[in-house]
Amino acid sequence: MATTTPSFPSPSVMEVLFSTEQIAARVKAIGDQITADYAGLTKNGQPIVLIGVLKGAAIFLADLARSIQVDNTFDFVAVSSYGRARVSSGAVKLIKDIDNPIEGKHVILVEDILDTGLTLSYLRGLMLQHKPASLKIATCLDKPERRLVPIEADYIGFQIPNQFVIGYGMDYAEVYRNVPDIRLYPEEAVGH
Ligand code: IMP
Ligand code: MG
Repeated sequence: MATTTPSFPSPSVMEVLFSTEQIAARVKAIGDQITADYAGLTKNGQPIVLIGVLKGAAIFLADLARSIQVDNTFDFVAVSSYGRARVSSGAVKLIKDIDNPIEGKHVILVEDILDTGLTLSYLRGLMLQHKPASLKIATCLDKPERRLVPIEADYIGFQIPNQFVIGYGMDYAEVYRNVPDIRLYPEEAVGH
C-alpha cells in the first residue's frame, strides 16, 4: 500500500471506486478497441505512439501499452499548471516535451483524468503542430461535469462524477500513486 505520513489518511479507510479487476477489464476492452481501430493503419510497420502525461498516466499507460495487440511505442510529456490559479487562468506550461518526432505517426495521448479539459486541450494543440498522421485521446477517468473547455476523449476507462480520487497513478499531493485500485479521497482530508 501507499507510504503515508501521519497527515494523510490510509488508503484502507477509503472507499474503493474501481477494483484492480474492474480496471484490468476496462484496460483490456480499450486495448482491444484500439487494436481493432489501428490494425489496418499500422500494416506499414509504423507503430502507434502513446504519449503519456506524467506522472499520473504512467501506470495506465504501462497497462494499456501491453493490452494493445498492434505495435506501439511510447513517450512522455510533463506539464505544470501555474499554481492553484490554473482553473481561473487556464494556463498550462510544458515542462517536458516528447523525445522523438511524431510527424506522420498515429498518436494517442494518454491521460489519467480528463477533468476541466485544460491540460488535454493545450497538449492536443501542441501535438497537432507536429503534424501527426492522426491524434486521439485515451483517458482512464473522465469527469464530464467539470469541463471548462470542449474536449472529449476517444477512449475512456470510466466516467465519474465530480469526486476526487486517488490510486492507479493518481495522487493527492504526490501521495497514493502506488495504490493499485482507484479510491475516493475523503472530502474532510482535502486541504492538508
Ligand atoms: P484538467 O483536465 O486540465 O483539469 O487536468 C486534469 C488533471 O488534474 C489530471 O491529469 C490530474 O492530474 C488532475 N486531477 C483532476 N482530478 C483529479 C483527481 O480526482 N485525482 C487526482 N488528480 C486529479
Ligand atoms: Mg495528471
